Amino acid sequence: MPTAIDLLKRQFFFTDEDAERLRELLPLAEEHQQQLVNSFYDYIQSQPETAAILARQTTREKMSHYHRLWFLGLFQGVYDEAYLQNLKRIGHAHVRVGLPVNFVNAAMHLVRHVLHHLIHDTFADRDLRRSYRESADKILDMNLSVMTSSYRDEEMKKVFISRRLESGLIHLAERFTYGLNLILVLALAGVSLGVVGMFVENLLEIFRGDVEKGILSALGAMLILWMMIELLDNEIKNLKGGSFNILVFIGVIVVAMVREILISTLRHDDLKTQAFLTITLLVLGIVYFLVSMAQKNRE
Ligand code: HEM
Repeated sequence: MPTAIDLLKRQFFFTDEDAERLRELLPLAEEHQQQLVNSFYDYIQSQPETAAILARQTTREKMSHYHRLWFLGLFQGVYDEAYLQNLKRIGHAHVRVGLPVNFVNAAMHLVRHVLHHLIHDTFADRDLRRSYRESADKILDMNLSVMTSSYRDEEMKKVFISRRLESGLIHLAERFTYGLNLILVLALAGVSLGVVGMFVENLLEIFRGDVEKGILSALGAMLILWMMIELLDNEIKNLKGGSFNILVFIGVIVVAMVREILISTLRHDDLKTQAFLTITLLVLGIVYFLVSMAQKNRE
């Protein structure tokens, strides 16, 4: 099975000949390593963002030491699994110091620029120059690819953690709402039983001789029972994943109002109270009508 470094080499068409050519460039790299390190440092100092990182994170000597070692490592001719792991570590080191990825790209561009010039100024033969340049480009691009993928890894890690947290919270909230709905259904069932009791009580009143009051009260209780059934039905639909129906709740208030008017008639309330209840019922009726129209239009 091909290893990760084999895959990387295959992706960039990096061959043993490329490795050999890079090894041949080592004396040239050693000779000009200081030039590279200086250009690197000048670039870092020229950009406010990178200069701030340098001031905050390390010293010129330490950073230049690391950058020099990396530069010489490009021409060792050995590009194995250990080399790849080291590149990944370097990538993560830059993520850790807070270096934006575009500066890694820009710094790599600078290294490429310096190398192209060195090769151009050193080798007279055109074909030789081209093959050295191509091999140098391949190793730089492989380095860039691994280093920038460290940034993607970090992003993915963040996304993954926040996604897990989000779905955990959503799941918890869903279970909580489900539990509340369950309690609501039980409470509604309990209240419905109470309404049945009220209805029976009203019927008994008829037999006790208070026919008018008994019939009107029983009618009111029946209306409430009817609405309780609607409410329960709506809640059960909700538990099964259906949508919330606001119309049922307005209906409950309408029915409660009708019952109040019936009782008010029995109590022989004054005209003002009865007019107030009737107007309230009228307004509720209009609201019910408008909401049901809006729902129909949406369907
Ligand atoms: C082509 C691009 C670059 C390469 C190949 C490179 C290479 C390296 C390497 C090999 C290390 C040592 C990592 C370790 O072993 O932990 C390092 C560290 C570091 N690099 Fe770079 N670097 C690049 C660009 C930059 C840029 C643009 C900055 C700008 C500020 C920078 C700042 C640093 C800093 C602050 C450290 C940590 C030094 C320490 O630990 O004291 N590097 N880099």
